[in-house]
Amino acid sequence: RTGARVERLPLARYTTLGVGGEAEVWTVQDHAQLLEAMEAPYRILGGGSNLVIADQGVPERVIRLAGQFAATDLTPDPHLSTSDQIVTGWVGGGVPLPGLLRKLQRLGLGNLEGTVGIPAQLGGAIWMNAGTRYGETFDGLHTLEIVTPEGARQVTPDELPWTYRSSGIPRNHIVTRARLNLRPSTPETVLDRMQAADVARKGQPKNRTPGCAFKNPTLEDGQKVSAGLLIDRAGLKGMQAGQARIAPEHGNFIVNLGGATATDVHALLQLIRERVPVPLELEYELWP
Ligand code: FAD
Ligand code: EPU
Repeated sequence: RTGARVERLPLARYTTLGVGGEAEVWTVQDHAQLLEAMEAPYRILGGGSNLVIADQGVPERVIRLAGQFAATDLTPDPHLSTSDQIVTGWVGGGVPLPGLLRKLQRLGLGNLEGTVGIPAQLGGAIWMNAGTRYGETFDGLHTLEIVTPEGARQVTPDELPWTYRSSGIPRNHIVTRARLNLRPSTPETVLDRMQAADVARKGQPKNRTPGCAFKNPTLEDGQKVSAGLLIDRAGLKGMQAGQARIAPEHGNFIVNLGGATATDVHALLQLIRERVPVPLELEYELWP
């Protein structure tokens, strides 16, 4: 045994929505523990900010990254860094993105400002290529380490078919750490950019939620349209199922009023699919 911590835990506690039953949670500190955890069917949990987990939980092991995978080394690599590009040491996939962005702001390092306000871990943000109109996670990556049951490998972003809200990394390939590719600037400039990106979040609800339910669809004329706008136009804001509600503030957010179940959330997703005339692709991930 490698010493990974194994506990039965309620997953609701580890999600921003606050919904989900129990699972066997493996908290891993290093590669040996991670590979042991991957010896049976597993799922990887990040910040839990995009998940709707079933009320009965999941049968697979749920892996959480800690220890070495939650460490941050922002030391510039002297061989790869220049006056207009900083390549950092390794930052763990389990590092919370908001704290990482605060550190980058203080150091005056740009490229990831557009991801401000996203309550992910770095690994989950990379896996989804989380972002906003102001920028996305792949704007600031140099090298990724990806672990599968076969072992660890390193890839660069240009080797992946990443796009809007997708890295192209297969499910259950675990992003254990990354080296960042950053633009040297000043703390004031980085702060200004973060504040500009944050303004776009002002109309988003403050309740417990997994963020936007659906990806923004591309219409026949090639234009991307806000799924929230379509849900709003369909008259669905404020609709409620049990203790889950389509946010009155923004149509693409489902919020937990306290005590919502996964079944409540599924009912609202179904209602939106039935009433919005454009086919929508789910952004939330449903476990199982
Ligand atoms: P989780 O929700 O834990 O998991 C999501 C998926 O990523 C799962 O498939 C999981 O297995 C996988 N995963 C997690 N960690 C890893 C890893 N280390 N390696 C491989 N796979 C992994 N998203 C946006 O893009 N833009 C936004 O503006 C935005 N705003 C949000 C605002 C709020 C208030 C909330 C709650 C969410 C918002 N989101 C937004 C959604 C969410 O934050 C992103 O989808 C984010 O990428 C999820 O990351 P996570 O670490 O929480 O992953
Ligand atoms: N709008 C409405 N009614 C609504 C919602 C939106 O009329 O209920 C209108 C707004 O007034 C605005 C337009 O639609 O004119 C666009 O809205 P917004 O600026 O909120 O952007 P969005 O496209 O709905 C996207 C991302 C968010 C991200 C914001 C801000 C997606 C699916 N959503 O929302 O990402 O935070 O931009 O950059 O791409 C997420 O992915 O989880 C997420 C929250």
